[in-house]
Amino acid sequence: MKRIGFIGAGNMATAIIGGILRSGSADGEHITVFDVLPDKLELLAKEKGIQTSDSAENVVKNSDITVLAVKPQNYSEVLENIKPAVTNEKVLVTIAAGISTDYIAHAIGTDCPMVRVMPNTPLLLGVGATALSKRNISDEDFEYVYNMFSAGGVTAILDESQMNSVIAVNGSSPAYIYLFAKAMVDYAVKEGIDESEALKLVCATLKGSAEMLEKSGDTPDTLIKKVSSPGGTTLKALEKLEEKDFYNSVLEAMDACTKRANELSK
Ligand SMILES: NC(=O)c1ccc[n+]([C@@H]2O[C@H](COP(=O)([O-])OP(=O)(O)OC[C@H]3O[C@@H](n4cnc5c(N)ncnc54)[C@H](OP(=O)(O)O)[C@@H]3O)[C@@H](O)[C@H]2O)c1
Repeated sequence: MKRIGFIGAGNMATAIIGGILRSGSADGEHITVFDVLPDKLELLAKEKGIQTSDSAENVVKNSDITVLAVKPQNYSEVLENIKPAVTNEKVLVTIAAGISTDYIAHAIGTDCPMVRVMPNTPLLLGVGATALSKRNISDEDFEYVYNMFSAGGVTAILDESQMNSVIAVNGSSPAYIYLFAKAMVDYAVKEGIDESEALKLVCATLKGSAEMLEKSGDTPDTLIKKVSSPGGTTLKALEKLEEKDFYNSVLEAMDACTKRANELSK
């Protein structure tokens, strides 16, 4: 069993550790975490039954695979801290938006095996969508990292050049969907429908529509036609969305997301 380390004990570390424990890729004895906030560290360790470490450097020393689960702005500090412990044998997994493996290799002065990952928060419930790209890594080690994430949902392997664009597709897109859901629930409430009943219907509609897209074999356009009878209610709603340029608004929003990732890129 590989030893897996985490630097940062936040939302993403919690979600990924949950998936690893569920899948049995590693047990609590083989997972170590460090965070600058001692309370957060102890809480996660207790909650998941995993080990704690007193420094980022010691996490890397005592792990085969280390997940860098801190915000992009904390990367330079963390890379400086772990530099003495990284060797060509150590696998690093980076989950930060816009941080390239080139930047990491340069900062630590070692072209160690790496996997760049873009997960999303539904990973917390085991229904995540994660994109992964690899660098300089053996098939066996990549498969191990891949399984850590596939235990928590759907996965896709991409080229690293696509990792900034994919943020709009799976990483930040849950926020766009929540906004869409909020508008639908708020509308229902305005029409006098109980909020919890509306939320139940909206969530089931989102899940059901996603399942239709996935399983029916129909394209989005065909599925839209199947809901829209001529002269009916759906067409009226679609006409309004078209008038407001909904489709292009989504494209522009996703493009803004990618542009920001490019700006923040290191
Ligand atoms: N949340 C998402 O939807 C999402 C999706 C895809 C990818 N990601 C990526 O996942 C990464 C982690 O996000 P998150 O939401 O899990 O963040 P988070 O909840 O803020 O967790 C990061 C933790 O690391 C701690 N930390 C900061 N500097 C540290 C250091 N030098 N050594 C050890 N620990 C340190 C932070 O403490 P402080 O609070 O004191 O800074 C915090 O407790 C980010 O890079 C983000 O881009 C997030």
